[in-house]
This record gives sequence, C-alpha cells and structure tokens, in this order.
Amino acid sequence: MPKNAFYAQSGGVTSVINASAAGVIETARKYPDIIGNVYAGRNGIIGALTEDLIDTSQESAESIAALKHTPSGAFGSCRYKLKGLEENRAEYERLIEIFKAHDIGYFFYNGGGDSQDTSNKVSQIGKALGYPMTCIGVPKTIDNDLPITDNCPGFGSVAKYVAVSTREAAYDVESMCKTSTKVFVLEVMGRHAGWIAAAGGLAKEAEGDGPHIILFPEITFDQPAFLKKVQESVDNHGFCVIVVSEGVKKPDGSFLAESGLKDAFGHAQLGGAATIVAQLVKSELGFKYHYAIADYLQRAARHIASKTDVEQAYALGQAAVEFAVAGKNAIMPAVVRVSDNPYKWKIGEAKLDDVANVEKMLPKNYITKDGFGITDACRTYLQPLIEGEDYPPYRNGLPYYIRLKNAPVKKKLNTEFKIK
Ligand code: F6P
Repeated sequence: MPKNAFYAQSGGVTSVINASAAGVIETARKYPDIIGNVYAGRNGIIGALTEDLIDTSQESAESIAALKHTPSGAFGSCRYKLKGLEENRAEYERLIEIFKAHDIGYFFYNGGGDSQDTSNKVSQIGKALGYPMTCIGVPKTIDNDLPITDNCPGFGSVAKYVAVSTREAAYDVESMCKTSTKVFVLEVMGRHAGWIAAAGGLAKEAEGDGPHIILFPEITFDQPAFLKKVQESVDNHGFCVIVVSEGVKKPDGSFLAESGLKDAFGHAQLGGAATIVAQLVKSELGFKYHYAIADYLQRAARHIASKTDVEQAYALGQAAVEFAVAGKNAIMPAVVRVSDNPYKWKIGEAKLDDVANVEKMLPKNYITKDGFGITDACRTYLQPLIEGEDYPPYRNGLPYYIRLKNAPVKKKLNTEFKIK
C-alpha cells in the first residue's frame, strides 16, 4: 500500500513557494502506486502537531496548476521552531502519532534555513523513535541565504521586483531633482544577508544611474562616509538613489532599525532603516527626500516574478518527490549552476545536515571596495536570476489568483496538543 505524504510551507512566504507546492503535488500524483494522498499542513508544521491536515486530493488539476502563478502560502505558513529531540521529545512523539494515524511515510518541508533544521530533525525521528520516514526539504527563501544551492526560490523574483522598483523610482527622482526631491531611499528585506539589497544594483546600467548607494548588512554603517557619498551624488548627478537593507548594523553591532520584537526563532523583527537614513539625509544635508519600505510588497509581487525563479521553484518541488520515490532521504534538492552566460542549471542535492541553520552571506568580492555598490562578479551571479517574465492571468485588470478549498482531512486522533 502506498504511504501518504505530508507537505508544508514554513517561514516567510514568497511569490513562488506555491509553484514548489504545485511541483510536489503534481509529481506525487504521477506515482499513485508509491505515494497516496498529499496532506498539507495547515500553517506549516503546526498543522501536523494539531492534526489540522488539508486533503489536497480534493483540489482539481486546474487548481493545483494555478498555484504556479499564485503568490503567498496557499496552505498557510508558520514561524515555529521544533526544539531538539532531547528538549521536547513530546513534540516528536506527537508528530509520529499523527503520521502513524494518517499513514504518512513522506515528509516534504518547504522553507529556509530554520525550516531545513526542522526537516533535518524530523528526518532523525525515524532512527531515534523507530518510525520510518522519508524526509526531503524543499528550499525557499527570499533572503537567498541557504548554502550549497546556487540560489533559493523566491529570491529571483524579489530581486527582479527590487531592481525594477529601483530603476523606476530613480527615473522619477531624476525628473524632480532640479527643484524638489533629491534623494530617494528604498528599504528592502534580507535580515542578515545583503543579497536582496545587492539586487537593487542591477538597476544601474550606465554611470550616473541609480542606485548610487547600497547599504548592506555585511558592511557596518559608516555615517560620515555615507553622507559624503550622498553629497557627491547630488553634486555630480543632481540626485541620489539609495537601497538600504533592513539588516544594516551600527558600529556597536545593533541593527539600525530594530522594532524590539522577536519571532519564534529569536530573530529580531526589522523595518524602518529607510526612515532613519532618509531623516539623516534631511537633518545633516538638508535634502528633500522620499522613501519607500518595500516590505511584503517585494515578496508578494507575483505579477513581476522572474520566469527563471518560477521554473526553479517548480523543478525543486518536483525533484523533492522524485528523490523520495527513488528512496533518498534527509536531503534537499538544490540548484546547480552549470554556466553563467547563457545561464544553465540543473538539479543537484544537499544533505539536510549541511544546510540546516547555515546562512550564506554576500561574498566580499561581490561588494565594491568603498562598500556602497556591487561588483561585476555580483552582477554576473545575479543577472540570470531575474531573467524572463511569467505574468499571471489577469481578470478585471487585476491578477487572477487561486484560493484553494483547503478541505480538512478527517481527524483520527482528535486529541488536543498545546503549541508552546
Ligand atoms: O523569510 C525571510 C524574511 O522575508 C526576511 O527577509 C524578513 O526579515 C522576514 O522574513 C520577515 O518575517 P515575518 O514575515 O515573519 O515578519
């Protein structure tokens, strides 16, 4: 008898995580002798712990296909960290109870570094508690900070959105700068790694184009050098476009913009670096400014997704199932770059042990010597990731996105489990 599969989305969602879901579900449907139903966790792993499973077999082939052009997490995501086996054995025993009750033998967990840690821990349950479980991670994170894989699904589309928005706003401020606004600041996500901020640099084609300054989390904020650079840009070009990462740090190591809140993983909630930078420009240099905080807009922007990103997101979901069917375990499919230009890639694999909790930062040779721009090597890496458009269908002037039925699987245990 085929075992059922559990699939869940975890962490911050992206505009293409549902394409990975489509890859998993459509591929699993091709192997009815090996994989039974795909049950999705409502709100990630919490759906498993609380026996809140979604029966994806209730969804038509058309609905699942429509996930490829629908942003967000169709089944709900979560920020919830499973503790170590020793610290919270009850959680793992509960997962096994649920998996046994629903005859689940495959675990596909779609997320970033923290989530791959969850996948890794679940993959160890088999050994530790004597329950056979095939466990495959599916990579995702706009932050692009997973190791081994060439890039992470979600990033290429955010990179495209940020590069497009930087270029468009740069055109705007350039036309206003003679008599009005001289500085435009765009704040982008990427808590610790500057990949998204770096993508803003793709907007620049010729000398004088924006962005003139990028502030990376990898480079400590140097206020005097920054103000000097803003002044120079206004003197030379009449205006200055700045891309600032939410993760920029002060010399004392604290974030420029920390809200004071922390999530379940202990990560500081960030946001507001653009406000701080813009006000500094006004108070120290007297320039009129506008600023924008791209926030959720950047990671929800499916309308301007990168075709490369959509294709890779789907392929990685598909590969996860192919790996499981081939009997592999405790791995994550990864993108392997074969060549830069033309961009060629294939699917490889990474051990979950090597991926969990590792953050890949922007390498030094991707940042210019002055710390405010990207190098040609960075451009070569980034460029193919934003290539191609994959517009969603439009209805009444708006993108048409699918909302699944998300029918619950009948509970078998019906016992309460308190989420800590
Ligand atoms: O998942 C990564 C990320 O998008 C970060 O870049 C950002 O700082 C964070 O999520 C925001 O998380 P949340 O949506 O949980 O506030």
